[in-house]
Amino acid sequence: MGRRTISLVITAALLLQPLAVRAAAPAPVGAEHGMVVSAHRLASEAGVEVLKKGGNAVDAAIAVAYALAVTYPEAGNIGGGGFMTVRWRDGREAFIDFREEAPGAATATLYQNAKGEVVPGLSTRGYLAVGVPGTVAGLELARQSFGSLPRGELMAPAIALARDGFILDQADADFLAEGAEDFAKDPPSAAVFLHDGRPWRKGERLVQTDLAHTLEAISDRGADGFYRGEAARRIVAASGAHGGILSLSDFEAYRALSRAPLDCDYRGYHIVSAPPPSSGGVVICETLGILSGYPLGQMGFASSSEAHVLTEALRRAYHDRNLELGDPAFVHPDVARLISPAYTAQLRAGIFMDHATPSASLGGVTPSHEGTSTTHFSIVDAQGDAVSLTYTLNDWFGARVMAPGTGVLLNDEMDDFSSKPGVPNQFGLVEGANNAIAPRKRPLSSMSPSLVTRDGQLVMVVGTPGGSRIPSAVIQVLINAIDYDMTLTEAVDAPRLHEQWLPDILYYEPFALSADTMAALAAKGHRLQQVGYDNQVAAILVGAPALGAKPVGSDRLYGALDPRLPTGSVDGY
Ligand code: DON
Repeated sequence: MGRRTISLVITAALLLQPLAVRAAAPAPVGAEHGMVVSAHRLASEAGVEVLKKGGNAVDAAIAVAYALAVTYPEAGNIGGGGFMTVRWRDGREAFIDFREEAPGAATATLYQNAKGEVVPGLSTRGYLAVGVPGTVAGLELARQSFGSLPRGELMAPAIALARDGFILDQADADFLAEGAEDFAKDPPSAAVFLHDGRPWRKGERLVQTDLAHTLEAISDRGADGFYRGEAARRIVAASGAHGGILSLSDFEAYRALSRAPLDCDYRGYHIVSAPPPSSGGVVICETLGILSGYPLGQMGFASSSEAHVLTEALRRAYHDRNLELGDPAFVHPDVARLISPAYTAQLRAGIFMDHATPSASLGGVTPSHEGTSTTHFSIVDAQGDAVSLTYTLNDWFGARVMAPGTGVLLNDEMDDFSSKPGVPNQFGLVEGANNAIAPRKRPLSSMSPSLVTRDGQLVMVVGTPGGSRIPSAVIQVLINAIDYDMTLTEAVDAPRLHEQWLPDILYYEPFALSADTMAALAAKGHRLQQVGYDNQVAAILVGAPALGAKPVGSDRLYGALDPRLPTGSVDGY
């Protein structure tokens, strides 16, 4: 081979490099007009049908949310709560808080025994764990404020799926089987989610007649059909009969709230996310604020220096989250300061490249002993309006109780309060007094339905389930796309790290760090622990499969659904 040929080969290899170094992830799914990415194929389909009929992103979100309440009982719900972030093509933004509320009879020591010890299980299983559900009020507020199609039309797919049933695929059946043991203990749940006492199988049809009736009452009467109807009466009666404290006045008093979303900037992108009572926006903005001072792109994805600064930034942001944040109707932390460039620069100045900061040295509550259902969907419509919605029962299938005759699985959101300052909740989060239980207070959340814009144009819709691992996952999808130029699927699929101040552990997903990177991190003083998967990011990128890339053909929207959970689909037209 002559010299010229060799140099041509080398040049060709260099030219090809951008393609050759791509990670092994499929291309994002493209669509021209509208897109829904959700945790259940039938819900994504229901949303796309609404978009095709000319409904806007909020209309589609309502249809998807009610459909998920039927087809994805793991986390889709009308017995839980959540947050919705909305943005219109003209730049207007909105945020709807439909987080559950503590019953009026709740007290700070609700889950403690006479000795002041937290009683395991009380805040996670059974009626005492249930917060006043917010989903129906939230979806109604969204529809009245921004919807364009009648409620009946938006709820019809969900009602049909409940009344006529749907055929379970393997992933549906596997997921339901995970709740089987608890369903067997609660006869109303067993009657629906077990088939003659055994788990449902692939190919069988799951019919939910009671749930269809509850949905019809909501379709007919709006929020009153739930909060002042048969459903509320039955839930309150069952709660009273089984040690719960829910009252009819709790249901009548519940309101979904409009709030201003929380915004911040990162390397020329504008992030729009969830304000308190979610901690999501604060953790995302505070962490990105700290990270903006480091050249992550040069450090390299999953290098020891990148993993170190990410961990140190998360440690500080979760420290503030856990000690300062709570329901803004009850506590008033200076959120603007927490995400301000001056404060994040001050935190950055306390980070040293050669050693980890012990979490305990940041101060706060003293942890005592050690101790996950949510779903996110992302929608963009043909006009460029977007909805990012995360809602939850907290645990998969919530408190694992269903009031007879309702078909509604109830949440265990009360566990998101701090049962006692210093005692971790089910996500290992150690929090202070600001998130203590009080009547009608909303528990602090990590849910982070987010949107990203650049130069006033929508570029991304993103969110995920995963409890305390929600904000850190959203942050990593953002830096993967922004700092490492990954395609959306690469950004979503890439293995992740997590750190939440306490416990003082750097968590890593399988294959997130090489052996020598882990050794380098351990040498700095990080304690490392591998964890399984808790997220299912559902994201849409507008304009191209990667930020700054070119569109493929006439497609305008590019969707990616996290492979970490088995159900769901990216659907568009
Ligand atoms: O609001 C929160 O932060 C939690 N209730 C979310 C729970 C969750 O994401 C569980 N998902 N796997």
